[in-house]
Amino acid sequence: MGERLLVTDVGPRDGLQSQASQVPTAGKLELIGALLDAGVRRIEATSFVSPQAVPQMADADAVLRGLVAPADAEISVLVPNLRGLERAMAAGAKQVAVVLSATETMNRKNIRMGLDEALQACKATLAQAARQGLRTRGYVAVAFACPFEGPVAPGQAAALAMQLREAGAGEVVMADTIGAAAPVDILAVTSALRQAGLDPTDAGMHLHDTRGMALANAWCAIGEGVRRFDASIGGLGGCPFAPGAAGNLATEDLVLMARQCGMDTGIDFERLLDAVDVAARLAGYPVGGRSYRWQAHGRGK
Ligand code: COA
Ligand code: ZN
Repeated sequence: MGERLLVTDVGPRDGLQSQASQVPTAGKLELIGALLDAGVRRIEATSFVSPQAVPQMADADAVLRGLVAPADAEISVLVPNLRGLERAMAAGAKQVAVVLSATETMNRKNIRMGLDEALQACKATLAQAARQGLRTRGYVAVAFACPFEGPVAPGQAAALAMQLREAGAGEVVMADTIGAAAPVDILAVTSALRQAGLDPTDAGMHLHDTRGMALANAWCAIGEGVRRFDASIGGLGGCPFAPGAAGNLATEDLVLMARQCGMDTGIDFERLLDAVDVAARLAGYPVGGRSYRWQAHGRGK
């Protein structure tokens, strides 16, 4: 087997947070179970955010407590502030992700703080998580473009990534929250990361497929040394606070591309499609990445 890609499925969080109808806790656990069954070992299970802000994530506590994962699984949860970290730890979290948006307006819309305040909150949360022995991820959201402020300078996104790294984030993740990037932007951001002193091999990419370029962006990022990717089962996804954000890069598309290109993800593609079916049932409408129809046809559907 060739090189390894580390795939984090963010479907249970990014994919479900904006669903119109409330997904029951048992359904969320079933989806996470299906992902684990397919061999996914990195999952963002839920977020400990304000239930007023994101009603769909109000059961974060029950999801994390109810989850049964093998010892080699890394289950991460998103926390927007210290209060979220406390709640996550009380529910047994071992890994947390903080979110810093690259622009002033996006931070205000998402977490009701300005950029400086959000950076301080992320630093405080990362420091506290480290003291408690938790693993951490730090997202730079809208790292390529902001729905309110437009294109983001790659140097700005990279500088914020470095700040999160220096504040102790175990992994920094550059997020194309609204799916506006093209491969040329991936090249610009990976180059800016290198200039800022951060090897793209240590950074993750979180891609959305709004303009149909997520897989092309992933391939471009792989060429630049990136080996860590977020993706969402069935391509579920979107941010309720970022207008225009559509689904994420579908996990099954990324896994299929990796397989055909001789890269190892440790994920069983056929079993992953069972997880797509669970996701579709929970969403209440057909989901699936760009390869899904081809694959479903192969399975006689
Ligand atoms: N979990 C649960 N409740 C929380 C919380 C958390 N992490 N953080 C704050 N709260 C509660 C406070 O206790 C307070 O409750 P009260 O009214 O009963 O006293 C209330 O929320 C308001 O607190 P405040 O600090 O003023 O928060 P806010 O209203 O400015 O909202 C966030 C800030 C960050 C909590 C909120 O904007 C949020 O949860 N955003 C998440 C957005 C998101 O998930 N985006 C998608 C993923 S990036
Ligand atoms: Zn996202």
